[in-house]
Amino acid sequence: MAEEMRIVLRNADKIDPKSIDDYITSGGYSALEKVRDMAPKDLINEVKKSNLRGRGGAGFNAGMKWSFVPPGEVKYVVCNLDEGEPGTYKDRIIVQKDPHTLLEGMAICAHAIDYRQGYIYCRGEYPYVVEHLNEAIAQAKSRGVLGEFDIEVRMGAGAYVCGEETALIESIEGHRGEPRFKPPFPGVAGLWGKPTVVNNVETFANLPEIINKGAEWYSQIGAPGYPGTKVLTLSGDIVNSVCIEVPTNTTVREVVYEFGGGIPNGKKLKAVQIGGTSGAFIPASMLDTPIDFDSMRNAGFTLGTGAVFVMDETRDIVDIVTRISKFFEHESCGKCNPCREGTFRNYEIMKKINAGQGSLEDVAKLKTLCQVMTRACLCGLGQAAPGPILTTMQHFDYEYGRKLLLS
Ligand SMILES: Cc1cc2nc3c(=O)[nH]c(=O)nc-3n(C[C@H](O)[C@H](O)[C@H](O)COP(=O)(O)O)c2cc1C
Ligand code: SF4
Repeated sequence: MAEEMRIVLRNADKIDPKSIDDYITSGGYSALEKVRDMAPKDLINEVKKSNLRGRGGAGFNAGMKWSFVPPGEVKYVVCNLDEGEPGTYKDRIIVQKDPHTLLEGMAICAHAIDYRQGYIYCRGEYPYVVEHLNEAIAQAKSRGVLGEFDIEVRMGAGAYVCGEETALIESIEGHRGEPRFKPPFPGVAGLWGKPTVVNNVETFANLPEIINKGAEWYSQIGAPGYPGTKVLTLSGDIVNSVCIEVPTNTTVREVVYEFGGGIPNGKKLKAVQIGGTSGAFIPASMLDTPIDFDSMRNAGFTLGTGAVFVMDETRDIVDIVTRISKFFEHESCGKCNPCREGTFRNYEIMKKINAGQGSLEDVAKLKTLCQVMTRACLCGLGQAAPGPILTTMQHFDYEYGRKLLLS
């Protein structure tokens, strides 16, 4: 029987999230105290050794990312709380249930890169989360627990692309939220051209426990290549639409049937989309794939943000993918041609196929377009947008075939 393991959500529903005293009583801010006696280099090595990898989608080693930040007078720590991915609400839960864990994690990072200014970029649709965070920051400042580290919260305006780290930086600077060319990466030239660490909420929220219990402890949990836990949000045709935290070697089947309680009304499962809108569609035959980043990638899927969207046997896959294509057409920022035109054409062709008016030639055109986009688009939005189309063409080709027969 698979079991939850709570590192990031260890205080959830156990402490009053509005009380810094509750957090401190439960051991909060002791990790920050501990790192103050550590040289930044040793702290970075400890985080590297834990093999904590980014929980915002790209899965990059956090300590390694911090080690790229060059020495210099000004550097920034930025937390990505944009969370615009449909079906994803884990970062909101983490912050609502235990905001000080995030603040402590960010302060640990600030010590590692030896700088004192941080920003939290929060999704525009979460004004109540901004309020909650500002209260927690004010409490932490008045108690002096953050030392000289200062954090400001900045709000987005509802654009999905602003979760991409360089578009996010542009947005904080007050510009239109469009991704930048990389390199240079933010670690070298980020906010106002200065070295900037951008990490996801969940990545930062892992840090206090890693420091308190040690990198060795953390690296032994879950899948060896992507250790620790993952916070997942379940939605769709599932009995329990819940937020859970599980070791990374948990399988998709365990997530759906043991934590999610299976499919309602005695129906069968058709597909699971993991990782958000751009995530791959996993067929029922591949449910034993573990959820960790590498196992997912090796099977042709994505862990992404950890959104788990379950579809039962009655769902029309081509119709769902058509709606996803519309989402990407709407959210493309338009800066680069392959995505601006590609997402538009994808939606156009998907609509035609979905309406039973498509041809084999349309399917071939769509496939080629998707393959070009994955290589030619400037940022992850355009590169990942074809994922649902390509994986459904691979695993659910009969659904496309059925629509073509109508034409
Ligand atoms: C279109 C798009 C949207 C993204 N949205 C988010 C987001 O909402 N939250 C997030 O942490 N990362 C998001 N990312 C990934 C970030 O660019 C970046 O990799 C991440 O914040 C780094 O943090 P991590 O290393 O801790 O995962 C997005 C990427 C793309 C391409
Ligand atoms: S890939 Fe899409 S979202 Fe990204 S820069 Fe190009 S147009 Fe904008």
